[in-house]
Amino acid sequence: MAVERTLSIIKPDATRRNLTGKIITKFEEAGLKVVASRRLRLSQADAEAFYGVHKERPFFKDLVSFMISGPVVVQVLEGEGAIQKNRDVMGATNPANAAAGTIRKEFAESIEANSAHGSDAPETAANEIKFFFRDLDIVG
Ligand code: CMP
Repeated sequence: MAVERTLSIIKPDATRRNLTGKIITKFEEAGLKVVASRRLRLSQADAEAFYGVHKERPFFKDLVSFMISGPVVVQVLEGEGAIQKNRDVMGATNPANAAAGTIRKEFAESIEANSAHGSDAPETAANEIKFFFRDLDIVG
């Protein structure tokens, strides 16, 4: 399988509860390597742009408010099949449907405060990585 890179966001519900290390451990134990990392607070414009694909969805306004409610940790994860692997480690979007041992099953509070975001496809991953990182910031 090809080595890929994907974007991960540890969301405000998880940074608020000091779960950053526990979540990164899940990625590392699955064979994903953190090749770039930054803690930041999204502005409203950042969050609206990042989640622009969802702007017509009924949950968009609440999602943006939640994502700017506290710090996030944005990371580039690298590994074989990293995009799908990251999604497997996160579990289903709704923690009620997430498998045992996944990040969202163990840590998420709700479908909105679901602790982590991960890119869903190669093109999205490339665009989401570019949203936060320059090539120089990524060291494999
Ligand atoms: P994420 O992977 O960050 O992508 C979009 C986010 O919207 C999703 O995780 C959820 O946190 C949030 N969201 C809130 N409500 C819904 C919903 N009904 N369906 C899908 N995503 C939702």
